[in-house]
Amino acid sequence: MAFLNKHQILEKSPTLLLVGTLLTVSVGGIVEIAPLFYLENTIEEVEGMRPYSPLELTGREIYIREGCYVCHSQMIRPMRDEVERYGHYSLAAESMYDHPFQWGSKRTGPDLARVGGRYSDAWHVDHLKDPQSVVPESIMPKYAFLAEREIDGEYVQDLMKTHRFVGVPYTDEMIENASADFTVQADPDEDYDAMLERYPGAVVSNFDGEPGITEMDALVAYMQMLGTLVDFSTFTPDANR
Ligand code: HEC
Repeated sequence: MAFLNKHQILEKSPTLLLVGTLLTVSVGGIVEIAPLFYLENTIEEVEGMRPYSPLELTGREIYIREGCYVCHSQMIRPMRDEVERYGHYSLAAESMYDHPFQWGSKRTGPDLARVGGRYSDAWHVDHLKDPQSVVPESIMPKYAFLAEREIDGEYVQDLMKTHRFVGVPYTDEMIENASADFTVQADPDEDYDAMLERYPGAVVSNFDGEPGITEMDALVAYMQMLGTLVDFSTFTPDANR
């Protein structure tokens, strides 16, 4: 009872009670937060993840510029209906090189996190030029102008340097070869082996079937790699811990 009597001192003084409460609550806070400072990375590393190739990164910029994220998310939630429709739920590591991330909170169109390889390049080009020509009931706007806008990768090096600045591990070699890698990815007749070594799994194709590189090529290159880097036939969440 002596102990309870002492507690009355705390209860009778609002200031002491406040200080005591803050002390107690901060113990809980420190226990939760302090370990995070000793972890190098809170994202579980996953095999297969690599930074975007120069052409993919350009396509991603176009995706953001055109506001595709207003209608499309890139995050598959671990719920049965989503996993059955879109594939394995998204891993944190899969958006670790995304600046800004494209998770999204609203879907007017389907989630695109694993759309890579699901359709042919030609389907994507037709669909982007005129969505209703392949999906008659679609309400997606037309983006035919992308096929008219030629790009040459002039600024892709700067773009990659910016991404390196915010933590994407682009090497000096990747940055040096940015504009060459940009071009060969859209030209299967060129020698693209070195590019593929730097960016394993990148899709090499003349995406829009026309000579020259356009914004359409870059956007389709980006679409075709989405969700394809991690091999889920061998992935087990615990083995990677
Ligand atoms: C106004 C909303 C809207 C915007 C903006 C929009 N889309 Fe869509 N998108 C849709 C809808 C609705 C569908 C489903 C019907 C269809 O396939 O066209 C769709 C379907 C798609 C599909 C096929 C997905 C699948 O799994 O079948 C792709 C790929 C796609 N959109 C890419 C894009 C890209 C790239 C952009 C930006 C250049 C974009 N969308 C902008 C609404 C939108």
